[in-house]
Amino acid sequence: MTSRIIVVDPFDYVVFGGTGDLARRKLLPALYQREADGQLPEDARIIGVSRKASSDADYRESIRAALTEHVKASELKADVVEVFLKRLFYVATDATSDSGWDQLAATLKPGEDKVRCFYLATGPDLFGPISERIAAHGLITDKTRVVVEKPLGKDGASAKAINDEIGRIFHEDQIYRIDHYLGKETVQNLMALRFANALFEPLWNAAHIDHVQITVAETVGVEGRGDYYDHSGAIRDMVQNHILQLLCLVAMEPPATMDADSVRGEKLKVLKGLKAISGPSATHVTVRGQYRAGASTTGAVPGYLDEVTDKASRTETFVAIKAEVQNWRWAGVPFYLRTGKRLAKRVSEIVVRFKPVPHSIFDDSVGALAANELVIRLQPDEGVKLQLMIKDPGPGGMRLRPVPLDMSFADAFGMRNPDAYERLLLDVVRGNATLFMRRDEVEAAWAWIDPILEAWGEMSEAPKGYTAGTWGPSAAIALIERDGRNWHEDTLI
Ligand code: BG6
Repeated sequence: MTSRIIVVDPFDYVVFGGTGDLARRKLLPALYQREADGQLPEDARIIGVSRKASSDADYRESIRAALTEHVKASELKADVVEVFLKRLFYVATDATSDSGWDQLAATLKPGEDKVRCFYLATGPDLFGPISERIAAHGLITDKTRVVVEKPLGKDGASAKAINDEIGRIFHEDQIYRIDHYLGKETVQNLMALRFANALFEPLWNAAHIDHVQITVAETVGVEGRGDYYDHSGAIRDMVQNHILQLLCLVAMEPPATMDADSVRGEKLKVLKGLKAISGPSATHVTVRGQYRAGASTTGAVPGYLDEVTDKASRTETFVAIKAEVQNWRWAGVPFYLRTGKRLAKRVSEIVVRFKPVPHSIFDDSVGALAANELVIRLQPDEGVKLQLMIKDPGPGGMRLRPVPLDMSFADAFGMRNPDAYERLLLDVVRGNATLFMRRDEVEAAWAWIDPILEAWGEMSEAPKGYTAGTWGPSAAIALIERDGRNWHEDTLI
């Protein structure tokens, strides 16, 4: 099955940090895939920008190598690669001085009526200086958009400062704050599931849902990003953005339309409804962990402290939180969140566990009645499973067992699962900000995270150690078992 392709308007994508890791690993491969699907118009161009002196020809060769490394061989078509590389240009430009900006302005051809996207794949310290120079060199047109990557700050105050800096130059509707989780197919499917089916919405509340689990488990460690990660940790790297965004999509009220502000307005209400965790309550409802040496899927792996410079680091590589959304729909329904590096298995999923039946008409011989569960699997094996109780087939009396109604997207649609960036990069060109974070959302998310960080800062206790290749500290299991519940079993090995 092929998806419907709508060619976008002509654009120039200017990628600051054009030779960096994100550009090579994600952005250029994503644009290549859109090329392969025929979605790029004839005069679309991609302009790589960084400080290093280089030529168009050298840049094209380096991106050829990046595509070979990061796109599956079966998806690399020689003729498409050639067409794609011809769209690439390179301008050496310094974000913090005027060097190279005139050339960038000339490359962008003043007066041209194309969509112009500036992707700032740089550290956040450069967002302000780059934005100012974009403005000072007259590069902002009516169709200009700017895309910024996380981390958007390390706390509420720094996020606000970054937002102020960008906001001095660009209007809010020109700013696209990327959270790549929102571009994942299954995440968008969560909205389809909730709002395009009559089945779930009447049950989607505290009367019928016992609790929700959101797990983003990785088997990788810090992968050479120790310097960044050690100043961030799992709560800033994953919870403040990806996990809270997932929580918002599960918990939000139905927006009036799919329009960006309707969706983002509903997400904002969820963030504002999160019960504050601060001071002593942080000890009860949060768990921090840090991995020690152990084994991953690839063999023996070192501990976190062997991978970072600060050998006494207290940065968490795992976090579990029991969160609550204080509103009519969700009163009393816990949202158990957990994420970590070097865990037993790579799996990201949302589990909605329903309440048990109010009364069983069956006697004990049928077996235990398991509560219904809706599992939305983001990766790997994207899909949705609804666990139902059925009768064991055949004679021999009534015996019941849980069976998943399983919809694996790969099996159902038989097509390549696009990378999140493919969708998001072209949404910017289309001017569709529904899957991007608005300023107030980012700041509301920090407003919930800041007191947790403060509480952790005041604790004398360090994060709990866990062996690489396990499910994190035992305290994370206790966090949910104390409430008479358990983490979803598929994630256990
Ligand atoms: C990034 C984090 O935002 O998301 C990384 O900075 C993490 O630490 C990554 O590994 C996970 O993304 P994905 O798409 O592989 O689940």
